[in-house]
Amino acid sequence: MADTSIDGPDAAGGEPLPAVLWGGRLVEKPGAEAFAFQASILVDQRLALEDIQGSRAHVAMLARQGIIPEETAGILGTELDRLAGEIASGTLAIDPAAEDIHSFIEAELIARLGMPGKLVHAGRSRNDQVAVDFRLYLKKAGESLLGELAAAITALLDQAETHAGSIMPGYTHLQRAQPVTLGHHLAAWCAGLVRDQDRFIDALARLDECPLGAGALAGSALPLDRENTSRALGFARPTLNSMDSVADRDFALELAAASAILMTHLSRFCEDVVIWASEEFKFIDLAEKWSTGSSIMPQKKNPDFAELIRGKSGRTTGNLVTLLTVLKGLPYAYDKDLQEDKEALFDSLDTARNCLRMFRGMMASARFNHARMKAACTGGFIEATDAAEYLVRKGLPFREAHEAVALIVRDCVGAGQASIAARSLEQLKGRSPLFESDVYAALTPEASVAARHLPGGPAPKEVRRQIAALRRQIRPPLR
Ligand code: ARG
Repeated sequence: MADTSIDGPDAAGGEPLPAVLWGGRLVEKPGAEAFAFQASILVDQRLALEDIQGSRAHVAMLARQGIIPEETAGILGTELDRLAGEIASGTLAIDPAAEDIHSFIEAELIARLGMPGKLVHAGRSRNDQVAVDFRLYLKKAGESLLGELAAAITALLDQAETHAGSIMPGYTHLQRAQPVTLGHHLAAWCAGLVRDQDRFIDALARLDECPLGAGALAGSALPLDRENTSRALGFARPTLNSMDSVADRDFALELAAASAILMTHLSRFCEDVVIWASEEFKFIDLAEKWSTGSSIMPQKKNPDFAELIRGKSGRTTGNLVTLLTVLKGLPYAYDKDLQEDKEALFDSLDTARNCLRMFRGMMASARFNHARMKAACTGGFIEATDAAEYLVRKGLPFREAHEAVALIVRDCVGAGQASIAARSLEQLKGRSPLFESDVYAALTPEASVAARHLPGGPAPKEVRRQIAALRRQIRPPLR
């Protein structure tokens, strides 16, 4: 039998609820199930240390402004430090039955200190409190993510440097297109990751404003010093508008978007890896410790890490859509809907961080099969564009060169030949008299790659220049 009973708002005599900060107004209290439904402690307990940090700054400011006695502020500060230590070391467990982390910390202060604990919340609301906690947490999490990004980019660039001269096919439509180098391909990934880094740096700079003092939505009539708490908490400045401070979550959207874009990059790179790891390609040999086996097929060595990173990109897209959907249509100040913001963004940042770490480990230990990559540059007429550009250099309009080489490719296909170089000079001249014997040297993959040394191109020397430029763009985590 399904349990359909519900201890709704009118449930009397249910389990005792934890102390809430708003008990005075409401005679009837939600039942246990309904209370748990609206509680957020299981998600926002992650903000415990930031909540304490915020309270520490708030209490010190209240004393400076003469709103609470200096001595009481000292007692509160000491107790807040003790609480932080106990939570960090695990000696104080966060009560999973509390309503949220703000109630839990305040209730703990009151339980331990009595009256002084009751002074903390002057001039403050959980609305500005949660906004400040969340931003403090995101600054730290963002810093850590930037560190992981820098490490991943560095590891990839090291591989790109090692393989700057290794020839491989470049693909469009997953068809062999033109020869490139492995270093060129890996540096392409890094160019995307460096922009991801910049997106995070940009978003983190914009969220670096302190909402404390915004109160529930309209500030406070107490003589708070918002500059002081902002500075004490390491923010660049206080937020400008108290309503916006509690209503706004675009900083969360920006980080969720940056995470989703980063994960979309990783997903595509992992798709390359999965293809390269196939028996058909065999371009990459993933380390055994970065592979998994099959429970039934004894021969298997599967690129599960790459596949899982690719798969996990989906949840970051989902989280971004969740946040956008939660925010759309909310009247502009605080609404309880906003409580749904944290779970989504925490998941996106955790996912991005974990995936970056796995991706780095997998790629740093990967080995590449240069012979297979080079061999894949023969057949498939990957040299056709070089043949056309050869004719352009000899003066033929490109459209005519394209046509001449297309006909040569048809000739080859008809004759069962796998490359343009298989045609004799006479046969080539039959399609364009501009062909000379030097064409054969221009059609090797080495010559093809070496010739494309324009900025951005795959020539080894140019790839090394790109790698150096990308290294210079890696930024250390924000302070
Ligand atoms: N748990 C809430 C949240 O995450 C904290 C703010 C609650 N404010 C309120 N007025 N109920 O958004």
